[in-house]
Amino acid sequence: MENQKVLTYFEDVAEWAKNIKRILQENNLDSNPLSRRISNLLSQLEEMKKNQENLPHYVGFVQQEVEGLFIDTERIVDQGVSRKLHSGRVPIGEHTLPPLPYPYDALEPYISEEIMRLHHDTHHKSYVDGLNKAENMMEKARESKNYDLLKHWEREAAFHGSGHYLHSIFWFVMKPNGGGKPSGALAKQINHDFGSFQNFKEHFSEAAKKVEGVGWALLVWSPRSHRLEILQTEKHQLMTQWDTIPLLVLDVWEHAYYLQYKADRDKYVENWWNIVNWDEVEKRYKEASKLVWQPY
Ligand SMILES: [Fe+2]
Repeated sequence: MENQKVLTYFEDVAEWAKNIKRILQENNLDSNPLSRRISNLLSQLEEMKKNQENLPHYVGFVQQEVEGLFIDTERIVDQGVSRKLHSGRVPIGEHTLPPLPYPYDALEPYISEEIMRLHHDTHHKSYVDGLNKAENMMEKARESKNYDLLKHWEREAAFHGSGHYLHSIFWFVMKPNGGGKPSGALAKQINHDFGSFQNFKEHFSEAAKKVEGVGWALLVWSPRSHRLEILQTEKHQLMTQWDTIPLLVLDVWEHAYYLQYKADRDKYVENWWNIVNWDEVEKRYKEASKLVWQPY
């Protein structure tokens, strides 16, 4: 291939690569390894262009890179990004690690770069992987109707799901040069429910300091009592996915069935389906689905 043709080909590849990078950025997939591979290819193309006499020799390498990137891009864009983007839905087993909204060292001196790298890239990533695995296994159980390991996968989904959802809140409720006080409606609600911002801050700090072992302190809104509340969670996996809203619930405490069904909980559960009020469940779904966070 003559040099001019090679240069034009390289220009086309660079334009395509920049386009893919832009799509990944728009979908908050900057931290995806594909994005780094594309950046590498772009800088390699720049270097190759400087080395005019060897230009034709680079073509094979570039073609190979493009082919690999094309396959991976298609997979991510088709399965992940576009589905997530157009449906606003994270498909089963396709949760992703949200990129930090600031550089790793941005919260120094309060939180070190080393902690942020480890906490985000390793710990949060393992929650994402664990949640995806649990969801895939539960989907398999539904398909095969084999629920033998369901308890295990429900536990995994609770542990990793809460980890993923809580960390996805945590990164975004911090920023460099943050602090101060809330304003507007939140400030008013805090004053109303806790007396003052100072009272809230003291209570929240004490809750955080007094969490037994591993856990979180949380400020939550209760749609039932119309109040803010401060909660602790000692083990975030017991047994919920924080940041979700219950729609349909079934009480399986013994007091709910024992007088009638004795130890036959299975029978109670089977019979219970005859009395579900789906109008109310639909109403709750309609209200709950108005709340939409950025999918990761
Ligand atoms: Fe954490």
